[in-house]
Parts: sequence; structure tokens; C-alpha cells
Amino acid sequence: MHKIAVLTSGGDSPGMNAAIRSVVRTCAYMNVECMAIYRGYQGMIEGDFVAMNARSVNNIINKGGTILKSARCEDFKTPEGRKKAHEQLVQAGISGFVVIGGDGSFTGATIFNKEYDFPVIGIPGTIDNDIFGTRYTLGFDTALNTVVDAIDKIRDTASSHNRLFFVEVMGRDVGHIALNAGVAAGAEEILIPEENLGLDRLLESLRRSKKTGKSSSIVVVAEGDKTGKNVFELKEYVEEHLPIYDVRVSVLGHMQRGGPPSAFDRVLASRMGVKAVEALIAGKTNLMVGIIDNEIVLTPIAEAIKGHTKIDRELVRVSDIMTI
Ligand code: F6P
Repeated sequence: MHKIAVLTSGGDSPGMNAAIRSVVRTCAYMNVECMAIYRGYQGMIEGDFVAMNARSVNNIINKGGTILKSARCEDFKTPEGRKKAHEQLVQAGISGFVVIGGDGSFTGATIFNKEYDFPVIGIPGTIDNDIFGTRYTLGFDTALNTVVDAIDKIRDTASSHNRLFFVEVMGRDVGHIALNAGVAAGAEEILIPEENLGLDRLLESLRRSKKTGKSSSIVVVAEGDKTGKNVFELKEYVEEHLPIYDVRVSVLGHMQRGGPPSAFDRVLASRMGVKAVEALIAGKTNLMVGIIDNEIVLTPIAEAIKGHTKIDRELVRVSDIMTI
């Protein structure tokens, strides 16, 4: 393995820069050339490559976003796009790449690997924590802390005005951010896609909260929840059926994807980057780096994509008990 490339793809997440830094520095340490691919797979197709050395990644470990930029690339979904990408890689003398991204990025990588037998290792970078084969994805911990911080602030004003807030958080079709942030921020109810408890239970729980002396309430809603109503419709529904509440909505949005990575994400990114490069150099391919029981492990990318992360049932129970 003479030359390894690194790219970030899909939605960005805090810790991606720390992972890029780790890949680049591990290559330098192992005397392997390293190329950055800008703008994800789009940059691969267009040959947007820049040679990196250990100093190219100074002062980025603490930065959110990705210095390499990211894209959700439609062209890479076509055989013509992937052919161009392969030609660019071969022309640049690149013999393997590390892709930092989520399941869409990994799906692209597996198809590419199948077509061209091109060595690839994935690093899971997404705030959603929805990748099988790892307990944590890069950015999840930071996003969680961002959400908890935001909800703490919302609680201040909710409490001053005796209000009920619906707070919508990201997570696409899984509820890891919602569940963990809800427990950490002491939410009265948490609505997640994995567990649709229905609107009656929500009303019942809010009614009980009021009765037992709670003056303000926070309901955390995962963006993919299955109540069939978005946060604004939930507000209307509660106003109609439970007029005892003054209700407001806060959609946290993309601020959840920004900000400096937490110490946890920086350490995880550094560990995953080393493992990814070592795996490529050892001739391994089509694997994703993950962390399970604090061990850095490798899982076939195909399994990582197909498998489902399970919601933490024990945490659901804890949440139920806490909302008494
Ligand atoms: O996958 C990360 C994520 O932030 C999801 O939580 C969210 O549903 C989605 O990306 C938003 O995507 P975009 O930035 O393209 O609007």
C-alpha cells in the first residue's frame, strides 16, 4: 500500500477532523503517502485531490465540521460516476481509501469495492449513532452534549413561564439522540421511533405531571418519531386536548451537527484513524472500524449497513421511572 486517500462523505459530524488528522498522521508515521479527497465522492469523481503530510492537519483536532468538505453525491450512485472515480484514483496512484461517513457513504463504498476490488475501510461518522458494528459513531457524544445544553437553556425559560416545550432533535429514523438527551436533560416524555406509545399516553403523562405539581415540562421528540404528527401538530393536539398547558416548540436543527468535538469524540477519532490505516496496510478491505466494549474492532461494511442498532431498553426503562 503506497498511497492512501481519505475523504469525508454524507452529513458532517464533530470528530471528522480529528479522524482525518489521525489518518494523515498514521500514514506519515508508517511512511505511506496520503492524499485528501475534497467534497466526498464528488471530489473523487472530479479528481479533487491534495497531498497531505503530518503538518497539513495541525490545529484541526478541536474543530467541528470537516476541512475536506462533505457532500451527498448522486453521481457516485451511477456506474458511470463510479467508473470516473476509479479512473481518477488509479491516475493519482492511490491504492486504497478511508471513508469517514454514515451508511449512505458505506453503501457507495461497498458497491465500488465489489465493482473494482478497490481496498476501502470505513470510519463511522454521524451524529445519529445508527451504525451497526460500533457502540458509538463519531459525533454522537458531541451532538448529545449540544442537545442537553440547549434543553437546559430551554428549561430555564419553560420554568419561568410555566410552559410545555416540544423539542425536536435529529437522528433521522432512530431515537438515540432523543432518548439519551431526554434522560440527561430530565425530559418529562421522550418520543422515539422505536417505541410509539401513542398520543393517549402522552396526554395522560402530561396530565399526571401537572397534577403532581410540575409547572413546566419538556418533551423531547426524535425527528423520526412515529406518532404521525410533527412537533407543530403535537403542539396543536395538546393545546386542543389539554388546554391547561401553554405550549411552545423548539426545533434544534443543524446546530446539533456543529461545534468542537467532545474529548470522547476526539479520542475515539484518533483511535479509529490509526486502526483504519493499519487495516489497509495489512491488506484488509471492505471493513468498518468500530468500538465495542472499549475495544477498537473491525466489522464487514456490508454488515454495518444491513444491521440495525438497537435502542437501549434499559435506558427506556430508566426514563419511564424518572418521569414519575
Ligand atoms: O444523518 C445526520 C443528519 O443530521 C440526520 O440526523 C438528519 O436527519 C439529516 O442528517 C439532515 O440532513 P441534511 O443536512 O442533508 O439536511
